[in-house]
Amino acid sequence: GLRKKEVNVLCLGLDNSGKTTIINQLKPSNPSNLLGPFSEEWKHVTQTQTQEIVPTIGFNIEKFKSSSLSFTVFDMSGQSRYRNLWEHYFKETHAVIFVVDSSDKLRMVVAKEELDILLSHEDIRCRKMPVLFFANKMDLQDAMTSAKVSQMLCLESIQDKPWHICGSNAIKGEGLQEGLDWLQGNTS
Ligand code: GTP
Ligand code: MG
Repeated sequence: GLRKKEVNVLCLGLDNSGKTTIINQLKPSNPSNLLGPFSEEWKHVTQTQTQEIVPTIGFNIEKFKSSSLSFTVFDMSGQSRYRNLWEHYFKETHAVIFVVDSSDKLRMVVAKEELDILLSHEDIRCRKMPVLFFANKMDLQDAMTSAKVSQMLCLESIQDKPWHICGSNAIKGEGLQEGLDWLQGNTS
């Protein structure tokens, strides 16, 4: 058949927001089963789900295939000492997944600062690439709603790119499919 279009996706957000947990959910839990746990369509092509998730050092690369696209996901570390690595991948990226811990009110301002740096970067600014936000950890009692997270990050001010925010619980995998379907539909 036709060769699948290759798409690079950067997964960004502060440390402890849940990036690696989200990406881990896309992997099949059973090695003999090539399909992911919640998706008929998203095939992970490298390894299977990991039980224990540890803070990412630097970054990890994961590959997935959907019916029409072949995704390479860069799961970046969100720790402050590694955040300067992010921009090295801006030029090559076709889409961004930005993950926020919805229960971390104290650091929402820091998340917004990092988002603003991203959106104003010369390799990102004015490009039409889709940005998918996960307002993650919706299961926690003090989690803000995705509308509140959207407001705190001033997402309405993003004019030059298609963007979308989904509430998610990465541990259960809730909300992830909706977000990825949006991303797939908006990645040209
Ligand atoms: P770095 O690699 O350090 O940038 O962090 P990360 O964004 O990859 O976060 P990671 O996936 O390692 O998750 C951090 C912690 O949050 C882990 O203990 C996860 O189990 C937990 N976590 C992730 N998603 C959720 C969620 O939706 N709900 C709850 N309650 N905990 C979550
Ligand atoms: Mg990580």
